[in-house]
Amino acid sequence: MSLIASSAQKVIPPGRIDLAIGQPSPRLLPFAAMAQAAAHAGADPERLLLSYGTEQGDGRFREALAHLLGPLYGRAVDPAELLVTNGASQALDLVCTLFSRTGDRILVEEPTYFLARKIFADHGLTPVALPMDEEGLVVEAVAEALRGAKPAFLYTIPTYHNPTSRCLSTERRRRLAELSRDRGLLVVADEVYHPLAYETPPPPPLASFCREAEILSLGSFSKILAPGLRLGWLQADPRRIRRFTACGLLDSGGGLNPYTSGIVRGALELGLVETHLALLKATYRPRLLALCTALRKALPPEVRFLQPEGGFFVWLEFPDGVDTEALLDPALERGLEFMPGPRFSNRNALRNCMRLSFAYFEIPDLEEGAARLGRLVRETPAGVAFGDRR
Ligand SMILES: Cc1ncc(COP(=O)(O)O)c(C=O)c1O
Repeated sequence: MSLIASSAQKVIPPGRIDLAIGQPSPRLLPFAAMAQAAAHAGADPERLLLSYGTEQGDGRFREALAHLLGPLYGRAVDPAELLVTNGASQALDLVCTLFSRTGDRILVEEPTYFLARKIFADHGLTPVALPMDEEGLVVEAVAEALRGAKPAFLYTIPTYHNPTSRCLSTERRRRLAELSRDRGLLVVADEVYHPLAYETPPPPPLASFCREAEILSLGSFSKILAPGLRLGWLQADPRRIRRFTACGLLDSGGGLNPYTSGIVRGALELGLVETHLALLKATYRPRLLALCTALRKALPPEVRFLQPEGGFFVWLEFPDGVDTEALLDPALERGLEFMPGPRFSNRNALRNCMRLSFAYFEIPDLEEGAARLGRLVRETPAGVAFGDRR
């Protein structure tokens, strides 16, 4: 077992094509760039990198981050709107700590990011599932849900949604921002995939409405540089940022991740993050095209999916009656893994759906994975709904 595999959160057995894993392959991790950035940051004459950091996060890092985000978001970003975090997961956990209490209702999408569900469960929150369609979250359903008791917040993934890869339309973003402003609805927008656009740029992030509506936008270096950095940011109106900088966690420990953010500032100043992001996009786009082509070839035509325009995932919808949970064991026996739909459901539904990721494996493995999936659904009893085609 290699050192990387042994220290990884998830170890993939040899021979398995694990399309459940939603993270970059080791080959895509920027070791050389980070060494260069660390050397640049180490020349810090004030020797502050290893001190307790200012609560909001180092101003020079936030400035460099704002420069990165401006072109990605299509509008200038004010460093005063940014708070440094240990990644989107930690930011979400802190949002729950500061803006909800055990037993509160929160609004979430159906389906939603499966591990966000776990963070909400840790805080004893009750998710109310709202429908999505091809344009993303159905905003009318949010308005409807606000007729009852006010939820602590809405959690949404507007761009290249996990798991569906759908994008909330421009019009719905505007409408959601209006609802947030008019009804005082706190919207937690998880925008970690926004920079990973492979076709036309997505609509403006919900972050761009943060001055006029109650929006907390979460971003992360996990998807554009490396997840092991555990570095991200929260973007909000500076008045709302103060709720974070005054909290006990930051008061006691100082700003989050000053050392890593100092090194990543080096990477930003040297232009290495843009270069790496360009490499990621140039790698993921052909992978996504290859996977979708291979799926079209391998799967019966009743299996529906939209070719994503960004992010990490392809969301498959099988005919009703196909049980993707039941397909998992036979899949593992055939050296294939995927994420069954119910993991993303707030109602233990979506049994006929599954999520595949093209971020980890290279094209030949993605093609082989699609072929294994095709054989699996045609040859196992859990693929019941294909009738004569099996
Ligand atoms: C929607 C979404 N949010 C958050 C995360 C985790 O981000 P981080 O590594 O910054 O904690 C992921 C990772 O898969 C994700 O898909």
